Amino acid sequence: MNPIDLRSDTVSKPTEAMRKAMASAEVGDDVFGDDPTVNRLEAMAAERVGKEAAVFAPSGTMANLMAVMTHTRPGDEILLGDECHVFNYEVAGSARLCGVQAHALHNLPDGGLDPVELERAIRGPNIHTPANPLLCLENTHNRCGGAALPLGTMDRLTGIARTHGMRTHLDGARIFNAQAALGEPAARIARDCDTVSFCLSKGLGCPVGSLLCGPMDFIREARRNRKMLGGGMRQVGILAAAGIYALENNVDRMVEDHANAAALASGLAKLGPFAPNTPQTNIVVADVLKGDLDAWLAAFRQAGVLAVAFGPQRMRMVTHINITADDVTAALERIERSVGTEAA
Ligand SMILES: Cc1ncc(COP(=O)(O)O)c(C=O)c1O
Repeated sequence: MNPIDLRSDTVSKPTEAMRKAMASAEVGDDVFGDDPTVNRLEAMAAERVGKEAAVFAPSGTMANLMAVMTHTRPGDEILLGDECHVFNYEVAGSARLCGVQAHALHNLPDGGLDPVELERAIRGPNIHTPANPLLCLENTHNRCGGAALPLGTMDRLTGIARTHGMRTHLDGARIFNAQAALGEPAARIARDCDTVSFCLSKGLGCPVGSLLCGPMDFIREARRNRKMLGGGMRQVGILAAAGIYALENNVDRMVEDHANAAALASGLAKLGPFAPNTPQTNIVVADVLKGDLDAWLAAFRQAGVLAVAFGPQRMRMVTHINITADDVTAALERIERSVGTEAA
């Protein structure tokens, strides 16, 4: 029995058509700026999110790190949400490699921040305090169950940052899921963010890669920082070709992943031991009401469904390009059987 892998959208594998595009890509040395396929991907990415320029990075983590490094100086303080990826899952790279302190504000369940708390956290000029050059937002918000931050929230928070002379970086790892959920172009969602990163390797179905997008001079500096971090790549057009293929073919289909996640959550809710979110996008987060999380994850695995722990008594399941509506039905049947076995 093939396992139905719902651990993350990062487990998605390139399709035959994407592999063909990769195999026939024109390449050059990208550190010299010579790779025509990378250059095309960067131009396309910048255009899709409404920015002047873009730089290809090996991962979302490095794209966010390059953003923080380029926006700040050592000794600065960045403001962000306490549930965000930069704060929780990037090995404190911004502290270690950029020398900045993170001030984490309480994330609201919709992935946003309380505007009053944000205003209060921004420090005035004072000989004792660090400067606050940067606010980081995340849309969609992974730990908030794939929440798509509405435009009103984006506009309010970026407006506060701007009023205080701060810049905003958007971790838009899944910005095209936000686009599909909100029915607004990614460029509108990121409009008032100075920079935005997004991942090719998640719902877009590529094997690897992220883009950091922003103003031309910022991206020039970010490219230097990428080199310093060891992220300067050579004949990487074979990976960029996957990105171009994905931007052309895999964006509009994300609504299917969202419908599959909604079906998965409503099926799970009927089984009894789990309380899932009502997913806006492709991420289902379910609290375990009865039994032990690790025992459930083991039982799911045994039944042929892969999920991950996502906090105490909480699990996550993510739909993606390799998961069909039939897979969701099959996953729910398998889970239902394991609920029967666990209860017996
Ligand atoms: C919101 C968010 N940002 C950034 C990343 C980092 O991406 P990568 O795994 O490519 O480093 C992830 C990965 O899951 C993510 O969910």
